[in-house]
Amino acid sequence: MSITVDVPTPDLPQATSFPDTAGGTTPDGSQTADPASRPASDPAAFLTEAELDAQLVGDARRIRVLTGDRPTGPLHLGHYLGSLRNRVRLQDVGADIFVLVADYQVVTDRDSGAEIGGHALGLVADYLACGVDPARSTVFAHSAVPALNQLMLPLLSLISVAELERNPTTKAEAATSGRPAVSALMLTYPVHQAADILFCHADLVPVGRDQLPHLEVTRTVARRFNTRYRPVFTEPRALISDAPSVLGTDGTKMSKSRGNTIELRASPDETAAVIKSFKTDTDRRISYDPANRPEVSNLLLITALCRDEDPRAVAEQIGDGGAAMLKRHATEAVNEHLRPLRARRAEVAGERALLSGILRRGAERATVEAEATLERVREAMGMAY
Ligand code: TRP
Repeated sequence: MSITVDVPTPDLPQATSFPDTAGGTTPDGSQTADPASRPASDPAAFLTEAELDAQLVGDARRIRVLTGDRPTGPLHLGHYLGSLRNRVRLQDVGADIFVLVADYQVVTDRDSGAEIGGHALGLVADYLACGVDPARSTVFAHSAVPALNQLMLPLLSLISVAELERNPTTKAEAATSGRPAVSALMLTYPVHQAADILFCHADLVPVGRDQLPHLEVTRTVARRFNTRYRPVFTEPRALISDAPSVLGTDGTKMSKSRGNTIELRASPDETAAVIKSFKTDTDRRISYDPANRPEVSNLLLITALCRDEDPRAVAEQIGDGGAAMLKRHATEAVNEHLRPLRARRAEVAGERALLSGILRRGAERATVEAEATLERVREAMGMAY
């Protein structure tokens, strides 16, 4: 990052220590679910799904979860298998879920352009398709909740420019943004994200490992606020998915920006064509060996996750069938699994009034929460005149 302003921060508590994300990330950017990469500095910073399951028994009602996506394009299979499926599971066991359409975050590294409205409504359609139920979960866009955004201001006073500049995820995003200058929003958006999470006192934030530095910013500003003024904020924990990340057609992490995805909304034929284009290898004997055969193993994993089977069992079924048979299995499993979801999406995708009504009602509920939190913040800061 090119910003080099450094302010002395004598009255700030200890510097933020970022978790070692490198420990949980393979060179191609995919994530490993290695519990050994838990940040040693703070064992309470996150928990895994298995640990959550142990805690959920009987009292999911009390757990509040905030998740979010940037509306930059249609969701894909990697989003679904890696996180969306989980959110719906949490919703279905009774957790109170806030689902954020992170529209302001889009402008960290691009102009919002004319497309953002369409992407935001498309995201809501994807959520509905996956089983997010707006009667039980709060789906909202942060540009529609002014009190949430105002919270960012006091939070910004609790972290230094130097700390923000050290954030490895922001650094990586700034480096790949392709913009001649890094915007002030790019540098400070982790604090905006802290406001996203803290306004509703979320206990848990399901995220990929790349987001752990941002969660650390949230925890830091929450702690500092509580210490400096009075306890207002809940320190949230990240919920790390057990699902390993899914690779795209080119063997790197499935991601919108790489153009290597299977979109949830794709037709069965489009899905077949995309899966045909996946990189594989020439060994006809199909085996599950993620370290040595990442591409073949990825297709086995996708098939297995869609069928709720073990990838090794899928490999056994295919045996010496080679890549072509593997791709046939994968195509059928994906299309079969996504069929009901795609049908639901097709029903709602054109219903503009329905989709924006969901965002409006979500924003109303989020506004009630955000205004109450902001009120407590102003009181704590001596600004309740
Ligand atoms: N930064 C997240 C992403 O790029 C999206 C996001 C915005 C988010 N606000 C959030 C995620 C709050 C979790 C919590 O995917």
